[in-house]
Amino acid sequence: MTGGPRKTAFVTGASRGIGAAIALGLAREGFDIAVSSTRADKLSDVVTGLKAAGARAAPVALDVRSQASIDKAMAAAVDALGGLDVLVNNAGIPLKKPALEVTGAEWDEVIGTNLAGTFFMSQRMGRHLVETGRPGCIISIASTHGLIGLADRALYGIAKAGVMHMTRMLAIEWAERGIRVNAIAPGRVETASRAESFTDPGYREWATARVPLGRFGTVEEIAAAVCYLASPGAAYITGQTLVMDGGLTAC
Ligand SMILES: NC(=O)c1ccc[n+]([C@@H]2O[C@H](COP(=O)([O-])OP(=O)(O)OC[C@H]3O[C@@H](n4cnc5c(N)ncnc54)[C@H](OP(=O)(O)O)[C@@H]3O)[C@@H](O)[C@H]2O)c1
Repeated sequence: MTGGPRKTAFVTGASRGIGAAIALGLAREGFDIAVSSTRADKLSDVVTGLKAAGARAAPVALDVRSQASIDKAMAAAVDALGGLDVLVNNAGIPLKKPALEVTGAEWDEVIGTNLAGTFFMSQRMGRHLVETGRPGCIISIASTHGLIGLADRALYGIAKAGVMHMTRMLAIEWAERGIRVNAIAPGRVETASRAESFTDPGYREWATARVPLGRFGTVEEIAAAVCYLASPGAAYITGQTLVMDGGLTAC
């Protein structure tokens, strides 16, 4: 980013993993950042890293399943940074479970977090951008599980497919207001939340064998794509999902 006042971004689910890397990547590009976790005390390491990168950093508590929490977190982020230009909907939870066994509570939890949480955060960001007349952008982290079928991931995949279609719908609805809406669909990325799978040597071998580039993605690669989509260079991109999967879904 060059010249002008510093831009601001809100990265949800930034206590670790992909969200923490996105926040740091944006900070290195000159953004001031609000970061969230369901528990604000889990953000101290990330905040230290953001400050070391020269950014103003605002830790915010957020549970995307709660409308009241969304309103409170948005208000806190806007208040701390003086307004928001970019929202990154990264908060999400995995679920690996046969469809035959999924419960109503699990449906509410996964859809409530990954799909409804992304929608209502986007809605509040949309309202903020419209009210302030800012030409901002929204970037949501979807998944290749929303593009191709895989056993035991139905609920997660349904939510992520919804995120990608939401991206198209909101992009069209808000284009005339100068608001861009995009998504990124990563394939497998090695993060702590997926540790159980990644430490199983059988899984690692099976999963990488299906990827033409022969490896998993990294959190830094996802962060670099978010930085691009948030940059002026991506000003003509909206309603798109950038698939980052080492070629998995091109097969
Ligand atoms: N890792 C992969 O292979 C992969 C692949 C494709 C897509 N993705 C997507 O990428 C995103 C990040 O994945 P990750 O592996 O980095 O996950 P992670 O390490 O488990 O981090 C998830 C983050 O989301 C937050 N979160 C969870 N539930 C929340 C809720 N109800 N309200 C607000 N925040 C909540 C967590 O907050 P707390 O600090 O409170 O726990 C945490 O900061 C997710 O949307 C995931 O579906 C991941």
